[in-house]
Amino acid sequence: MRVLVKKGRIIDPSQNLDFVGDLLIEEGKILGIEKNIEIKEKVEVIEAKDLWILPGLVDIHVHLREPGEEWKEDIETGTKAALYGGILRLACMPNTKPPNDSPEVTKYILERALEKAHVKVYPIACITKNQEGKEITEFGRLKKAGAIGISDDGKWVQNSDVMKRALLYAKNFDLPVISHCEDINLSKGGQINEGYFSAKLGLKGIPVSAETIAVIRDLILAKETKKFIHLAHLSTKEVIPFLRWAKEEGIPFTAETCPHYFTLTEKEVENYNTLAKVNPPLRTQKDVEAIKLALKEGLIEVIASDHAPHSPLEKEIEFELASPGMIGLQTLLPLSLNLVREGYLTPLKLAEYLILNPSKVLGIEAPSLKKGSLAEVIIVDPEEEYIFTEEIIQSKSKNTPFLNKKLKGRVKKIIFNKKIFDLSF
Ligand code: DOR
Repeated sequence: MRVLVKKGRIIDPSQNLDFVGDLLIEEGKILGIEKNIEIKEKVEVIEAKDLWILPGLVDIHVHLREPGEEWKEDIETGTKAALYGGILRLACMPNTKPPNDSPEVTKYILERALEKAHVKVYPIACITKNQEGKEITEFGRLKKAGAIGISDDGKWVQNSDVMKRALLYAKNFDLPVISHCEDINLSKGGQINEGYFSAKLGLKGIPVSAETIAVIRDLILAKETKKFIHLAHLSTKEVIPFLRWAKEEGIPFTAETCPHYFTLTEKEVENYNTLAKVNPPLRTQKDVEAIKLALKEGLIEVIASDHAPHSPLEKEIEFELASPGMIGLQTLLPLSLNLVREGYLTPLKLAEYLILNPSKVLGIEAPSLKKGSLAEVIIVDPEEEYIFTEEIIQSKSKNTPFLNKKLKGRVKKIIFNKKIFDLSF
């Protein structure tokens, strides 16, 4: 297979490149990346005028629900949704049933992925057994089984001594520690952001302090242990000055947010819309603005989906009983492109946040368009508009507040695993 992608905007953060040019791919490898490539041999040409050509996205925050909750999602359907979203590598969170706190579960996920996955899957294992925050798991054995990092995502490791020991222990194995920053003593029973809407709707609120206190504690522990920590799905304005302080102090950390935190506000839940129930909760317009500015400043430098599928069984019920979370694999790119449209990020910076930095967090070599690299290429129309209908959603679950809303920006073609995928819908 020889393919020549012509006259696209080539954006590759691994080489700091952003230019209009051609990309030549042969037998699944990048053979040329130049302003103009002319070849005499037979070649399949893809015209990419006005389209963007990027390495595949790397999403480090995905819930695939397998094993244990396959009615919501499984490895096959979740990775298919990822493919359609331009995500060719993803890390899956360990709050499965049973949780991924043993080498057996890690291996099971990898075996299933080998059989079924459409994209590369990296399992993240638990920090503590059964995510109970008490007893640390066996990091060495988990890593040997194939775990790429550790996290109790869905829960914060509430006990600071356990977290400190986990950081020190993880250092021995060079495993990234990913923290779900939420002080449960403050957020317990909470449904939505604490404030005007929680009072109006009569729902228990989740205060901003639940996130801020968790972030500060984690940063202090990272400082003391000199161990890198990744702060997942940040949602509040209040944490930003502490991130700035941590950068100045040289604390080893990275921070992540998700498209819903820079796109939506708590107003979405006004009609008790369970599709907008998510944890951490959607916040206020001031928070949305602050998150965008933090991305611009580079204090938050990873964007992930936090793809959290739930079926109607968990969503079409009373607000208090509904599970938090929304799917996000196919909205990650179109919603993130708004940051470019609104002038917060350049296309290259956005690509850094979606490809290069998440790869660095996981400690893997980032997908690249360098000559000789394996071809993991996505071709994107950043301008195409469409309605995000159930038919377009590849995920088993359709729980998204963006359902039937207009999206802008679409993955058109993918060149991956020696194949060309035409993603028309
Ligand atoms: O909204 C959420 N859903 N936040 C989390 O941290 C976990 C996730 C899930 O697993 O459903």
